[in-house]
Amino acid sequence: MKPDFKGLDMLHGCDYNPEQWLDMPEILEQDIACMKKANINCVSVGIFSWACLEPEEGVYRLGWLAEIVDRLYKNGIYTILGTPSGARPVWLAKKYPEVLRVAPDMTRNLMGARHNHCFTSPVYRRKVYEVNAMLAKTLGNHPGVILWHISNEYSGACFCPLCQAEFRIWLKNKYKSLENLNKAWWTAFWSHRYTDWSQIEAPVPKGEMDVHGLTLDWNRFVTDRTVDFMKNEIAALRENGSQLPVTTNLMEFHYSLNYFKFKDIIDIVSWDSYPMWHLPAGGDAAMGARTACCHDLMRSIKKDRPFLLMESTPSMTNWFPVSKLKKPGMHMLSSMQAIAHGADSVQYFQWRKSRGGSEKFHGAVVSHDCRDDTRVFKDVAEVGERLKKLGGLCGSLPQAKAAIFFDWENRWAIQETKGPRNAGMHYEKTVIAQYRAFWEMGLPVDFVDMESDLTGYSLIAAPMLYMYRSGVEKKLRAFVENGGVLVGSFFQGLVNETDLCFLGDAPHGLTDVYGLRVEEIDALYDEESNSMNWNGKEYALSLLCERVRPSAADTLAVYSRDFYAGEAVLCANSFGKGRAYYLAAGAEQDFYSDFFRYIAESLGLEKALSAQLPQGVSASRRIADKPVAIVQNFNAETAVVQLNSEMQDYESGEIYTAAIELAPYEVKFVKEYEKN
Ligand code: GAL
Ligand code: ZN
Repeated sequence: MKPDFKGLDMLHGCDYNPEQWLDMPEILEQDIACMKKANINCVSVGIFSWACLEPEEGVYRLGWLAEIVDRLYKNGIYTILGTPSGARPVWLAKKYPEVLRVAPDMTRNLMGARHNHCFTSPVYRRKVYEVNAMLAKTLGNHPGVILWHISNEYSGACFCPLCQAEFRIWLKNKYKSLENLNKAWWTAFWSHRYTDWSQIEAPVPKGEMDVHGLTLDWNRFVTDRTVDFMKNEIAALRENGSQLPVTTNLMEFHYSLNYFKFKDIIDIVSWDSYPMWHLPAGGDAAMGARTACCHDLMRSIKKDRPFLLMESTPSMTNWFPVSKLKKPGMHMLSSMQAIAHGADSVQYFQWRKSRGGSEKFHGAVVSHDCRDDTRVFKDVAEVGERLKKLGGLCGSLPQAKAAIFFDWENRWAIQETKGPRNAGMHYEKTVIAQYRAFWEMGLPVDFVDMESDLTGYSLIAAPMLYMYRSGVEKKLRAFVENGGVLVGSFFQGLVNETDLCFLGDAPHGLTDVYGLRVEEIDALYDEESNSMNWNGKEYALSLLCERVRPSAADTLAVYSRDFYAGEAVLCANSFGKGRAYYLAAGAEQDFYSDFFRYIAESLGLEKALSAQLPQGVSASRRIADKPVAIVQNFNAETAVVQLNSEMQDYESGEIYTAAIELAPYEVKFVKEYEKN
C-alpha cells in the first residue's frame, strides 16, 4: 500500500533543528538553499522544540515554526512534524517534579537528559496533550506537512507510585482475582504469595526479581503504558483537526518495548538505523546481514505497507565506542539497503551539526564548515538524485513466502529466566544467524511473532521458542498439517505465557509434529563445543545441547562428542502434508546457511535473484508491477554475480547477459529482461 504523502514518492529527508539557530537567519536561509542542492524533499522538525514552542507555561509561540514550515513548503520541501514529548522544558520539570521519571532504585531523576518522563503523570499527559493540540491547530492541516512524528524513540519505564498504581489496575484487569495471579506467578515458591493488591511492586534489583510472571507482566505493562501514552498524544492531534498519518521512530531490537503492539497505533512504521560499519575485523557482510535483519523486522510490524528509514547518519555517529567514517560507496549502499528491504525513504540524523550539546560531533549533511561541497554533502545529494528515479517502487513489498519468529515476550522470558545458561542465551544472535542464511541466499523473509497469522508462508523458522503463548503450538501444528515446512530449534515449548513450565513432554503440544521429545538440556561454556556431521560436512555446535528422544522423526545428524555422542541432534518428521525439522543444539553460521539453503531449494522458494550469490553479496526484492531485485555488494572488493537468466538494469536499461559486476559497496537494481 502506498502512503499518501501529498504526491511525493521516495522521501529523502533529515532531522532539522532550526530552533537552535533562530538568532542566525543567514544560517536558516543557507539551510533551504543547501537542502535543495542536496535533493532533500522533507525534513523532520520540532522533535526537540518544546522550550521554544512553550517558553513559559501556557504561553505558546508557534510563529517561528509556522514561518519555517511555510518557507520550506514554498521551496518544495515538506515537513514531518514532531511532537516534543521526548524532552521537556526545564520550567516544566521544576514546577511539576512528578513529570520526571523514577528510576528502578525508587529515586526520582533530576531535570536533565531526554526520555526522562513518567508515562502516567496526569500533569505530563495534559501538558503533552496541550502542546500537541496547539501544533495540530496551527499546522495540522498545512499543505506542507505530510506526517506526524510523535515523540522520539519511546523507551524505558518509570517506577513512580503513579505508574505502580496503574500496574496494579492492569493486573486486576488481567487476573480478576489475587488467587489467579498467585497461581499464574507460582508465588508459593519462597513464600512470595500476595494477599493484597497493594503489596505488588514493580520488579527492581533491590526488590522482587525472582517471580518471572511478575517481570514478564511488568514488561507487558510498560509496552501498554507507552501505547496508552501514544494514544493520548495522537488523540490531541485528531481531536484538534488533523487527520495526517502518524509515525514514531523505533529502534530495531530495542529491549523494553514489544513493537508488534504498536502496529495498530501508528499508521507507518519508521526506524533509526545506526549500523557499526567497518569494524576492524571480518568485513561488512555480518553488519550488512544484521542491518537487513533489522529492516525486515521493522517492516514486519506493519506487513501491508513499506516503512520509513527515519534516521541514519550521513557519515559517522558520536556515540559508538569508536566512530568511523563511512567509506566511499557505503553511504549509497546503506541507504539503498533500506529501500531494498521495503523503505520508502532515506532520512538522516541530522541536517546540520549543532554548535553545542552532546551531538555537536555527530555526522550531519552540513558540518561546522557550513559547506555544500564536501564528500558527505555530495554523497547525500547523490542518494537524493537516485531516489528520484525509484519512485515506481514506492508502496511495493517483497512478498515473502518464508518467515522467522522473533517474539519480544519470548525474548524477555529467555533473558529473565534462570538457567540453563545464565552466561548468555543469545536469542537475538541465534535469530540473526538464522536470518543471515536467508540474506545470503537473497530469499525474501518476514518476521512473525506468536500473535501473527501464519497463513501464506511455506517455510517458517522458529528458533528458541522457549515460551508458547497465544496458541502458537496450535498455529504451528496447523501450519505443518497443511503442508508448511517448520524448522524449530532448541529451547522450545517449555513454558507458558507467565513462565510456568508445561507439565508433560516438550516441545509442548508439538511432540507428534516434531516426532520427538526433548528429555534433557546440557549447557556449554563459551569455550566448549560439540559437533555433528550433516550431508557430509562437519559443523560445530554450541550454547545448548538437548538430548532428544525421536519417536517418529528420522535422525539426520547425531552428536559426535560427550556422553550423548551418537544421539540425535537434527531430526525431520513428516506430519500431515508438511514437514517439521528439529535442531536440538546451537549451530555455527555455516550450518544455518547450508541447511536453510537446502530447505529453500528443495521447496523451490523463489529468490530475489535467480543466481548463486557470492560471499558478502545479498539481494532483496520489491514487487511493484514486476519484481525488481536489488543486488548489494557489502565487500570492499569487486564481486561478480553469475546469472541464470538475462537481466536488465532497472535504472540504466543496461542488459546483463551472463553476469552482474558490482564495484566495492555497489548496489544495482535489476529486473528480468523482456525481449520485445
Ligand atoms: C537517535 C535519536 C536522535 C539522535 C540520534 C543520534 O537515536 O533519535 O535524536 O540522538 O540518535 O545518532
Ligand atoms: Zn511514573
